Amino acid sequence: MRTLTIIGCGSLARSLARLWSENEIFAIGDILNRSIDSAKEAVAQIGGGSAVSLMSDIRQADLYLIATPDSQIKGCADELEQSGLIDSNSIVFHCSGVLSSEVLSSVKKRGASIASAHPLRSFAKPILSKVEFAGTYCSLEGEDRAVKTVSQAFEALDAITIAIEAKDKVLYHTAGAIVCNYLTSLMELGLQTYEKAGIDRELTLKMIEPFVRGTLDNFFALGPVASLSGPIARGDCETISTHLAALEEWSKPKADLYRLLGSVALELSRAQGTANRKSLEELKVLLNTETS
Ligand SMILES: NC(=O)c1ccc[n+]([C@@H]2O[C@H](COP(=O)([O-])OP(=O)(O)OC[C@H]3O[C@@H](n4cnc5c(N)ncnc54)[C@H](OP(=O)(O)O)[C@@H]3O)[C@@H](O)[C@H]2O)c1
Repeated sequence: MRTLTIIGCGSLARSLARLWSENEIFAIGDILNRSIDSAKEAVAQIGGGSAVSLMSDIRQADLYLIATPDSQIKGCADELEQSGLIDSNSIVFHCSGVLSSEVLSSVKKRGASIASAHPLRSFAKPILSKVEFAGTYCSLEGEDRAVKTVSQAFEALDAITIAIEAKDKVLYHTAGAIVCNYLTSLMELGLQTYEKAGIDRELTLKMIEPFVRGTLDNFFALGPVASLSGPIARGDCETISTHLAALEEWSKPKADLYRLLGSVALELSRAQGTANRKSLEELKVLLNTETS
């Protein structure tokens, strides 16, 4: 079995290492964190590996996962390159969503093959079970040898691997922030707007839950075009105009955001084809924002 050493063994690496170890995909080698206590805690949670205090204490392994916070990955790769551990059999990878494998390029000087592999899920829970992890999409890019081995390791945990280009990683990660984090922001903006209309947050949350869940269910069942409903889908310019006037009076940035999101809805409404063309043209003028 190949050995995997981990530099930076926090939330993500503890779960992955435990799963790879339990399923006999990798034997866990050394674990280096900032503090030895944290490395020992990781060893206990994984049920394998040896905690070390310094890069110079690490023994040679087949694969090296650098799962520190993103800002530390390059520095750790540079230190690893200087360690004397890396040769042409080594594989070095990280799991950042935004950085490409290029950040590991220093170890290429020693012949290592490099990759980035980003599992699209949150590792907030200390340890995920195989059942919980199964079906997770992982996007990979990098050099063939590293991508092949790391893909196989994720697929052995029933993850679904997809290829991404290094140049696209930043936008790929931005998209994740929009669909997940900004959905939360959008909901918060909705709560603030209900509050402005005199309905408190507690009641709003109860009131909108079925409404929002139904929207999400329709979105995934029918797709964005067919699931769009409301005034823009109907081409109702008068209603949109009153919404905008109310928002302008309250907060110009909120009105601007409403216009921008409205113009995305307008594209969907065009594709849906329910509203008449004249209404769609009037809406375009009202929303007055380019979407592409
Ligand atoms: N968490 C997620 O949900 C998630 C999801 C997808 C991808 N990722 C990616 O996975 C990577 C790790 O994220 P994470 O959330 O697991 O981070 P984390 O929980 O903050 O853990 C980071 C670990 O790195 C160690 N560390 C920090 N600087 C170090 C250094 N210079 N040398 C050695 N060890 C160092 C820390 O040690 P101490 O414990 O001693 O402080 C800690 O154990 C990142 O690239 C992130 O973008 C995370």
